[in-house]
Amino acid sequence: MTTTTPRPTTAAGAIGTAHTRVEGHDKVTGAARYAGEFPFPDLAHGWLVVSTVARGRIRSVDTGPVLAMPGVLAVLHHGNAPRLTTDYVGMLGVPDPTAAVFQHDRVPHAGWPVALVVAETPEQAREAAESLTVSYDEEPYDTTLTAGRPDAYAVDGHMPGVTEKGDLEAELAASAFVVDAEYTTPEEHHAMMEPHAATARWEDGRLDLLDSNQGATWVQSELANLFTLDPAAVRVRSEHVGGGFGSKGIRAHQVAAVMAARILDRPVRVVLTRRQMFSLTGHRSPTVQRVRLGADADGRLRALEHRSLNRTSTVYEFVEPAAGPARVMYDADAHRTANEVVRLDVPSPTWMRAPGEAPGAFALESALDELAAKAGLDPIELRLRNDPERGPVSGLPFAGRHLAACFREGARRFGWAGRDPRPGIRREGGRLLGTGTAAASFPAGAGPSTATLTAEPDGTFTVRIAAADIGTGARTALTLVAADALRVAPDRVRVRIGDSAFGPAMIAGGSTGTRSWSWAVTAAAEELRERLALGADIPPDGITVRADTTEALGALAQKERHSFGAQFAEVAVDPATGEVRVRRMLGIFAAGRIVNPLTARSQLVGGMTWGISMALHEEAVRDRASGGLYGADLAGYHIASHADVPAVEADWVDDPDPEDPVGIKGIGEIGIVGAAAAIANAVWHATGVRHRDLPIRPDRILGAGASDA
Ligand code: MOS
Repeated sequence: MTTTTPRPTTAAGAIGTAHTRVEGHDKVTGAARYAGEFPFPDLAHGWLVVSTVARGRIRSVDTGPVLAMPGVLAVLHHGNAPRLTTDYVGMLGVPDPTAAVFQHDRVPHAGWPVALVVAETPEQAREAAESLTVSYDEEPYDTTLTAGRPDAYAVDGHMPGVTEKGDLEAELAASAFVVDAEYTTPEEHHAMMEPHAATARWEDGRLDLLDSNQGATWVQSELANLFTLDPAAVRVRSEHVGGGFGSKGIRAHQVAAVMAARILDRPVRVVLTRRQMFSLTGHRSPTVQRVRLGADADGRLRALEHRSLNRTSTVYEFVEPAAGPARVMYDADAHRTANEVVRLDVPSPTWMRAPGEAPGAFALESALDELAAKAGLDPIELRLRNDPERGPVSGLPFAGRHLAACFREGARRFGWAGRDPRPGIRREGGRLLGTGTAAASFPAGAGPSTATLTAEPDGTFTVRIAAADIGTGARTALTLVAADALRVAPDRVRVRIGDSAFGPAMIAGGSTGTRSWSWAVTAAAEELRERLALGADIPPDGITVRADTTEALGALAQKERHSFGAQFAEVAVDPATGEVRVRRMLGIFAAGRIVNPLTARSQLVGGMTWGISMALHEEAVRDRASGGLYGADLAGYHIASHADVPAVEADWVDDPDPEDPVGIKGIGEIGIVGAAAAIANAVWHATGVRHRDLPIRPDRILGAGASDA
C-alpha cells in the first residue's frame, strides 16, 4: 500500500490526473447562471411568509391590505392554495410534508411557511410579505432535547433502529477497562453559499422549473407526485449549484413557486432568505449519545454499546443514525447499537454531510481515545487491535478495508511515532499543545442511473446525464471518466448535466453521485466504442447510445462496502482565554480510485474543514422563549472562517473498488467523519480535560476546571 501520486492509469489516462473544473471559466466570469438569475420579461417574484409562533393554528390571514400594496399580484395561503397529493411513495420514500405548503392551518414549528406574497418586483414582494398580518391560536410547545426522555423511541427505517448480540452487562462486568460516557452534538446547519431558489413556468400544461438541487429527476418526480402530473410533463433543470450538503431536495419554495406560476400564468421565482433557510431547508439534529466500551487487559473489545438520540419534527420522522458507525467499525463479544428519536416542535431535520457518521464518529472515536488512555495503549494500536475481518453486525466480508494502511501512512507523515501519551504536559509560550487521532468510515454505495452518449460528426462526444454538480467537481470527473472509456482526450468530451430530460439518475447524495453516474457513462461509452469500431459513418445528428445501470447494480455481491480514513490533528489551547487553535490536520483516506486528484483533495479538505467547524464553532441555539433560533444568520451561526483553518492536508492510499467499473467508492462525506473527534482528542492531550460536548467553546475550556486525566 503506497500513497497515490497522480498518474495515468489507462490507455487514455485522464483519470488520476489533475484537471481544473470544466465549468470553472464560466463560474469565475459570471457566465454560469444559477437558479435565481435567469431573466424573463414577465417574471413575478414570490416571498414566503413564515410563522412567528412555534405551535398552534392559523386563525386568519389578512390579505386585503397587502393586495392593495404596489405591485402585489397574489397572496397564497392555506385558505386559497390548490390541494396537493401528499400520500405517495416517492423516489426516496415517503415525502417530507415540509414541502407540501399551505395545505392546512396547523403550525408545527417556528418559521413554518404560512403564505406566499407574489409581486412584480422582489422589493415589492418583500415589503408586502413583511406587512402581512397573520394571527394564530398559540399552543404550548416543546423544543428541548435531553437524554432519557420517556417519549423517545427506536425507529426502523431504511436501517434498523436497534442491533444487538451478546450479554452486554456480563461483558462489561468482566472487562478490565470500561468507558461509560455521554457525548452531545448541537443543532447544525448546512450554510451553503447559494440560497435555495426556484423559477417556475407553465406552458401548455407543462411545468418547467429552473432550480438549485441535488437531483433534477428527484425534484421532477416529487413535483409530479405533489401536483398529480405525468412526470414527462415536468422538466427540472439545475445546471449550477452553489452547495447542497444534503439540504437541496424538494422544499417549500419550489412548490410555492409552482403553485403561484400556475395561478398567475406567468413565471414566478422564489428565493429564500438566509434566515428562512434556517427553518425551511433542514438541519442536522442535535444528538445525545451514550457510549459504553469494555476491553480486556490487552485492549480487545468485549463490550460495545452506542446509543444515539436525535430530535425530529412532528411532521416528519428523520433519524440521524449516529449509532451507525459502530456497526461497521469495531466488533465486540457483546455489541449493541440503537438510534432513537423524539418528536418535538422543531423544523424537520434532514441529511447533512455524513448524516449519522459525523456526530456518531465524534462520540465513538472520543470513547476509543478514552479507552486507550485507560488501557495505557496508543490510540492507533487500540484501533488496530480491534480492526474486524467482517462487518460486526452484518457478518459480511468487507469490499476492501484499508483502515490500518491509512493509520500507518498517516502516523508516518504526521510524525506520530514517539508521541508522549501523557496529557497536559507540552507547552509553548502560554499555550498547551496536543495531538489527536480518530478513524473515519463512510458507506460506498451506488444508485441506478441512465446516461446517453452521442458521437458527433465533428469527432467530439456529448454525454447527457441528470447528474448534479453541487460544487464537488462531478462534471469534471465525468468528463475524465468518459474520455478514458472512449479512449479520447478530455477536450473532445462535453458533459451536460442537471436536466431531468436526460432521464433518471442517482442524486448527488450519500457520496454516491460520481460513482453512480460514472458507471452509467462508462457503460454507454463501451457500447458506443463497439458501434464506432464497426466503422459506420456518423450522420449529422450523431450516433447516440443509452445505458441504464439498474441491472448491473442489482447483480452486485452482498458486502460491507465502505471507505475508511485516519484523521490527525494538532491543537494549541490558550488556558487564559479558552481559545483552541487547530495548528495542522492530516487525513489519509482509502476511498476508492481517485478520478481527479485536484477536486478530490478539495472534497476531503473541505470535509476536514467542516470537522474543525463542528469541533470548535458550529452551534444553532434554540430559544425556549420563542421556539426559534438565536441569530439565524451567518453572523450568529459561527462557521470556521479562513483564519480558523490552518494547514489541512488530505491524501489517500490505493483502494480501487474491484467491483466498480472505474474503481470509485465516493469521497463527498468521509472527510468530515472523525475530524471533530481527532480535534477533541487533541484538546484532551493538550489540557488533560475531556470535552464531550460540541462545540468546544472558549467558555467550556475555561469552565472545565482541573485536569481529570
Ligand atoms: Mo449528502 S448529506 O448525502 O447530500
